[in-house]
Amino acid sequence: MKIFKSTVFTAALLPVAYLIFGLVGDKLGANPIETLLHKTGFWTLTFLMITLSVSPVRKLSNWNKIIKFRRMLGLFAFFYACLHFTIYLGLDRQFEWQEIVEDLSKRPYITIGFTALVMLVPLAITSTKGWIRKLGKRWQKLHRLIYVIATAGVVHFWWLVKKDITEPLIFALILSLLMTFRLALLKIKLQAIQK
Ligand code: HEM
Repeated sequence: MKIFKSTVFTAALLPVAYLIFGLVGDKLGANPIETLLHKTGFWTLTFLMITLSVSPVRKLSNWNKIIKFRRMLGLFAFFYACLHFTIYLGLDRQFEWQEIVEDLSKRPYITIGFTALVMLVPLAITSTKGWIRKLGKRWQKLHRLIYVIATAGVVHFWWLVKKDITEPLIFALILSLLMTFRLALLKIKLQAIQK
């Protein structure tokens, strides 16, 4: 299990390693800042989807140990979101706070992306065993926010693309599938309680 965990951890770091080598080797194309912003945004959303897939895969395969990866995957989503935001603040906007505040208030796709990032913070903080114990049933309720965050991430992506909506559409379809699975499970649970 330990070796499997280290493999997943290393694999999750590959996108950032690719970006660092690309930056150092000047291989990120004509606009490296744009590439960095796009790739980190893409990986944030991808890790959110992977994290949301853990429970369905567990239920469908009976592979219970997979749950041990969920925290790590969720924290990687947070890591890529922070990187994405830092690149936006430091490289794209060069800490021009007036422009940043204007973006946040006047560009809806930035507002919704920022809202998603803010909502990820309490989830990252409370992802430890201590917090799970402390919050009890409230922990699960709080962590359902991940669906709202993923939806906000998809809307953010959808709003920012100018022509080709293929990629945000694929993310939207994956998210709808994951939510449908979740709702179906909830229905089965409710029916079992009513019996
Ligand atoms: C959970 C939070 C977030 C997610 C899931 C996310 C996801 C994404 C995705 C998928 C892209 C497009 C990548 C591509 O083109 O392949 C993107 C681009 C971008 N994001 Fe985010 N993002 C998040 C938060 C933020 C925040 C907090 C900001 C800034 C305040 C931000 C600013 C941007 C900008 C400026 C772009 C590039 C827009 C352009 O092409 O002109 N994002 N993001």
